[in-house]
Amino acid sequence: MPNTIIVGAQWGDEGKGKIVDFLTEDTDIVVRAQGGNNAGHTVIHDNKKYVLHLIPSGILWPEKKCVIGNGVVIDPISLLEEFDNLQQQGIEITPENLVISNRAHLTLSYHRVLDSYRESGLGGKKIGTTGRGIGPTYIDKAERSGIRMADLIDQGKLSEKIISKVDKANSVLQGSEAETIDSNEIIDQIKTAAERLKPFVTETTTYLHEQIIAGKSLLFEGAQGTYLDIDHGTYPFVTSSNTTAGGACTGSGVSPRSIDNVTAVAKAYTTRVGSGPFITENQEFSDRMHGMGREFGATTGRKRRCGWFDAVLVRHACRLNGADHLALTNVDGLDGIDTIKICTSYELKGETIHTPPANSEDWDLCTPIYEEMAGWVDQITAGAPDIATMPEKAKAYLDRLSELCETPIRIVGVGPDRKETLLRD
Ligand code: GDP
Ligand code: IMO
Ligand code: MG
Repeated sequence: MPNTIIVGAQWGDEGKGKIVDFLTEDTDIVVRAQGGNNAGHTVIHDNKKYVLHLIPSGILWPEKKCVIGNGVVIDPISLLEEFDNLQQQGIEITPENLVISNRAHLTLSYHRVLDSYRESGLGGKKIGTTGRGIGPTYIDKAERSGIRMADLIDQGKLSEKIISKVDKANSVLQGSEAETIDSNEIIDQIKTAAERLKPFVTETTTYLHEQIIAGKSLLFEGAQGTYLDIDHGTYPFVTSSNTTAGGACTGSGVSPRSIDNVTAVAKAYTTRVGSGPFITENQEFSDRMHGMGREFGATTGRKRRCGWFDAVLVRHACRLNGADHLALTNVDGLDGIDTIKICTSYELKGETIHTPPANSEDWDLCTPIYEEMAGWVDQITAGAPDIATMPEKAKAYLDRLSELCETPIRIVGVGPDRKETLLRD
């Protein structure tokens, strides 16, 4: 398979994990390049459910290699918990199938405390973060004071660096309700973690270059989605990394010249977890999804906000990411709805606009302009064995979304299982 980047085209949780898992069969190496354990990627097969946070979904395939690249922020304690959980589910994790970049930044407990503290100070303007310390870790990285995997392994100045970071965090937290952070506790905890992680840590960029030269194929597993991108998302209601295709290159050290394909993943409708603009959000539609037991977050268990497909967002995401194809998941979520709406443009201050605005204030003023399509009320797509046997109205929906997003839909999801993934010409 060509070297392929998988990105989310909406606000995350599009089903990237499932699509990566499906494509891993034909690839050699699966790479995570940004984000951290804010991600929750669900894969279901053989009646078993796996939720991956930091480890690439490719780990579920024996013989495949996985890489956690330099752009990922790693909470070492949470990573080891993930090792243990997967091992309990029968998945072996060894330096043979997983390598971790020595340049990746560490998320430590003070980052999580600072994350909650910042959120509590935002009152009604909370971002609704996952509380995993992601923002504060990337702040340290950008501020050039972060602690990296290489520091954890060498340990030379590790304690000194942690003490200095904890002192700073405690001075920020002074007078607040947050508990004082104990640097000795962190040092003890992560020195133990370092012993277990040491065999996995390496110079992953050189490793990837060597694999490319040897003719191996790479699959980049995006985390979050285009509208959570720190530059292109619904700022400030975004995460702190570049979730778009370029992030896969900077976050792994693989050049754009080595990328052959970009596949953007979108749901057949829209969801968002956390605060921020969501033009097509619809309470009735959300209630319907939650009533069906769908759309609860994989990382925090929060109810996802739900609404109609927003073609303004996905078309722009396809351009931003240079998507060759779209993978459209959760088409079965629309089974039984009699009239399906698609947002084709927004109205903003009396004008019709076709691309997302930059300002948070403008987002709040946008209203959706919809077109409607007849649903496939008495038929279902769930579990369809191929595209040909899907209801005609569902096929018409796929054709229309392809057209509106100016991108062919190549992969279609009709259920959560690995098997419920169809290829479309
Ligand atoms: P990710 O973060 O992009 O990997 O997505 P998540 O795993 O957080 O959320 C996607 C949810 O949709 C998970 O519960 C998946 O099991 C589920 N899912 C993915 N594709 C499909 C599909 O085509 N149909 C159904 N019914 N569920 C799907
Ligand atoms: P996957 O990879 C959905 C959201 C949070 C919040 C904002 C900032 O599973 O698609 P952060 O903790 O990153 O500082 O939170 O981003 N968010 C996600 N939403 N899926 C994700 O990952 C997300 N990762 C972060 O809810 O709105
Ligand atoms: Mg998710």
